[in-house]
Amino acid sequence: MRVLMVCLGNICRSPIAEGILRHKAAEKGLDIITDSAGTSAFHVGEAPDHRMILTAGKNGIDISDLSARQFISADYQNFDLIYAMDESNYENMIRLANNDSDREKVRLILNESTPGLNASVPDPYYGGDQGFQHVIDLLDVAVDKVIERIETNG
Ligand code: 4NP
Repeated sequence: MRVLMVCLGNICRSPIAEGILRHKAAEKGLDIITDSAGTSAFHVGEAPDHRMILTAGKNGIDISDLSARQFISADYQNFDLIYAMDESNYENMIRLANNDSDREKVRLILNESTPGLNASVPDPYYGGDQGFQHVIDLLDVAVDKVIERIETNG
């Protein structure tokens, strides 16, 4: 199974989503390929935001090796599940989809933990430090559901 996490900058929300999934998959011995990307090119080549690296570390998750890249339409061939952190990311990716099969791969990640609400993972970039922990808390629950989905559907 190949899972891609996507936000706007690929320096705050999607790297930690990838890091949490990678961490939990390794703990469970699951064969999951993980990656993340941003719909924008603003931060391509950069490491995750230092505040997210720090907060992730306090939660036992190392994302210091990750580096930002932009989402491209070829990602539809290379991944089975593609998770948007918010509705804007979702719409931006849908615009790059080629067919229904591509569109069916894209989901809002918080619909895994709170189905049907179309809730967004809040962008912590311009806020205070507590915003980073809040993102981790939301994604910790949602990623458990992603793993349940993968374990159920193979
Ligand atoms: P992310 O956060 O989408 O969670 O990586 C952002 C980081 C940077 C910007 C926007 C969102 N920016 O506009 O530079």
